[in-house]
Amino acid sequence: MTVTLPRETSGDDAIPAAVRRAEPIVWRNPHRRDAASVLAGSAFSEADMHGAEARWRRFDPLLAELFEGTEDGRIDSPLLPVASDLARTVLGDAPGSVWVKADHDLPVTGCIKARGGVYEVLTYAETLAAAAGLLRPGLSYAAFASGAFRDLFARHTIAVGSTGNLGFSVGVMGRALGFQVEVHMSHDAKAWKKQRLRDLGALVVEHPGDYGRAVAAARDAFRDRAAAHFVDDEDSVDLFLGYAAAALDLQRQLAAAGIAVDAAHPLYVYLPCGVGGAPGGVAFGLTLLFGDAVRPVFVEPVASPCMLVQLAAGLDRSVSVYEAGLDNRTAADGLAVASASLLVARTVGALIDAVVTVPDAELFHWLRALWTGAGLRLEPSAASGFAALGRFLAEAPPTTPKATHVVWTTGGAHLPDAEFEAALARA
Ligand SMILES: Cc1ncc(COP(=O)(O)O)c(C=O)c1O
Repeated sequence: MTVTLPRETSGDDAIPAAVRRAEPIVWRNPHRRDAASVLAGSAFSEADMHGAEARWRRFDPLLAELFEGTEDGRIDSPLLPVASDLARTVLGDAPGSVWVKADHDLPVTGCIKARGGVYEVLTYAETLAAAAGLLRPGLSYAAFASGAFRDLFARHTIAVGSTGNLGFSVGVMGRALGFQVEVHMSHDAKAWKKQRLRDLGALVVEHPGDYGRAVAAARDAFRDRAAAHFVDDEDSVDLFLGYAAAALDLQRQLAAAGIAVDAAHPLYVYLPCGVGGAPGGVAFGLTLLFGDAVRPVFVEPVASPCMLVQLAAGLDRSVSVYEAGLDNRTAADGLAVASASLLVARTVGALIDAVVTVPDAELFHWLRALWTGAGLRLEPSAASGFAALGRFLAEAPPTTPKATHVVWTTGGAHLPDAEFEAALARA
């Protein structure tokens, strides 16, 4: 069902009953406003996104040296056309074309969280190097992998609270530069994700309760700690800007594919949402580039619709899915987040077109369909965009036939075989 709320409606009562019953829903955001007015009042600007892009490019030589498979040191993924028969399955009778932004296969980590996590580690490393007087004009940043740089980084700790993929991204990059890395995770986070971090030489600290409690505990432990940096998944501007720079990658790829984005050719982007940083940053960057022509559709599990609940209830205080009577239990572990980032909700809440919630069974259905039909190896969270697309189009079809739909597949290539086989078997 589609719920359209009057613009002035917010507060706990505005959380739709279907959401409270954990039923799938297409929630058209009643708080969406025109891009120009939202961006004019935003704390972040196009210059911030370009600043992030420039930092990424400064580090190209380092990433190319450290990691195989990064084309020119770029952590970016291809934009893939979806074969016509599969596209027909998702589009039904709706016109338009479907593309996959293949971050499930992102170099280095195989997940979208690298765009934020790797970026924040690089930002911290650059800040430390500058303070230590190690940056001279003309220096190739490949030097960050050697000598005095590594000695400096080895004396510092980077900590993060994570459902898994942010921790992995921070862990891979942090350890590659010689940092001590501490990843705080909920006790029930996937065992293989914890082991993968230990194999990197990161310290994994387990916490009872959910991901939010792990983040809060880590934040407390690292407050005022010397020679340390806490990557705050719920509240980090660096993460947000690292994700936002992805918009420039997509813009380049759309142009290369000859795809116009303007009022007559809207761009619908389906973004799996956990705490909101990754989809929020991408949505913000795309809005800077394409204005109202971009329509971000966030996708959440029916048990963990934290962004929907937050936006519906209003932005005065943090509202969790538990308050809406939900249990936050989903096989989409990257999206198993009870409370959205308020930073993100406040920054992009008025830019989101809709939030679609999906049941776990549909994640497994699409995980299998995309593997057998298109050879895409996804984790359950990453299949959610496809689960949302058909539902969204059925209930909120674009008014123009010339829409482009980009489904962001956010993780999965590094899933161990046994995990992937088990997920296929659940379809
Ligand atoms: C595979 C995958 N997709 C999407 C997300 C959502 O990102 P965010 O939590 O920043 O909303 C995550 C988060 O860990 C993830 O692991």
